[in-house]
Amino acid sequence: MRYLVTGGAGFIGSNTVDELVRRGHSVVVLDDLSGGKEENLAEVRNKITFIKGTITDIEIIRRAIFEADYVIHLAARTSVPFSMKDPIETNRINIDGTLNVLVAARDARVKRVVFAASSSAYGETPTLPKTENMQPQPISPYGVTKYVGELYAQTFGRCFGLENVCLRYFNIFGPRQDPSSPYSGVMAKFCTAFLEETEPVIFGDGTQSRDFTYVSNAVQANLLACEAPRASGGVFNIGTGMRVNLNEVVEALGAISGKPLKARYDPPRDGDIRDSQADITHARAVLGYEPTVGLEEGLQRTFDWYRATQAAKTEAKS
Ligand code: NAD
Ligand code: UD1
Repeated sequence: MRYLVTGGAGFIGSNTVDELVRRGHSVVVLDDLSGGKEENLAEVRNKITFIKGTITDIEIIRRAIFEADYVIHLAARTSVPFSMKDPIETNRINIDGTLNVLVAARDARVKRVVFAASSSAYGETPTLPKTENMQPQPISPYGVTKYVGELYAQTFGRCFGLENVCLRYFNIFGPRQDPSSPYSGVMAKFCTAFLEETEPVIFGDGTQSRDFTYVSNAVQANLLACEAPRASGGVFNIGTGMRVNLNEVVEALGAISGKPLKARYDPPRDGDIRDSQADITHARAVLGYEPTVGLEEGLQRTFDWYRATQAAKTEAKS
């Protein structure tokens, strides 16, 4: 099968591309490298087509989507605090860009579009875990853009018969998550802090919780979502069904690294959700999704990856 992966040079994208290539599929990646890196695709570079371009340009998408069977649409501005600072740019990429992808997918008559939605669509819910039938009430511009993306995808299904599946990922972490930006995900930043023995910074009191989900589980969901019968038009939580708070993550990384560190506590972030935990019953039933790597193993694998990557960079310099 032929796949277009937008945002395929990013964290979840490159892990997804690796698996598609491993399974013998043909893959085109469209990415503007604003957050992703070509080196994330190093292992598969001569087996895929890479197009550097932006999803805000529909003509580039039309070129990339040519003869695609499936589109896995991951390209986005992914940060909640960035969206608080620049909601217009977040809207331009995440909503206008997604609309371009859907129009191009409709015109190219692809079999299905899988959209990277987000648990941030829920906002704060009165109860946990979060289920797909709860009314989304985002509390950040980023959350709005991800929810609007779902609405557009589903509406294209109803108006134009474009098959679509929306996956509400819950905090995905693992190898290749970029630790270097102020907007980077917390696991990437904490792993780096433990490697470099610098203070991990916690925004708030560290009791906020997340359903941290190892990236291979998200990759599994992406692939299942392309082909699962009766999934089109659906929205699915993709997480583990568990949650831990940030103080517990710091403690766990202390044990893994063998060097416990004390966190610094800074003021909480605007737009931050307090607690997040997925109910994955629907994904299990319809997609056949089953998380296979839990938090402990995922954290160990992730820390090992950052350690190995850092060691390789140090060696290359010397
Ligand atoms: P990432 O930043 O590593 O990947 C996003 C990719 O999109 C990057 O490679 C970036 O260069 C690319 N991109 C950004 N703007 C683009 C544009 N205009 N045109 C083309 N490419 C562009 O982030 P990620 O964590 O891999 O996230 C992938 C998707 O999953 C995003 O849509 C994100 O909103 C969604 N998501 C992520 C998480 C998570 O916890 N990581 C959770 C929920 C949803
Ligand atoms: C993350 C994803 C977002 C996704 C959402 C779905 C990133 C950058 N963000 O948002 O794309 O849609 O999950 O669940 O991948 N924190 C610290 N110290 C730090 C960094 C963060 O304490 O150095 C805190 C934050 O305030 C927050 C928690 O850690 O409470 C998680 O933050 P972050 O990793 O940025 O993810 P989310 O905002 O949950």
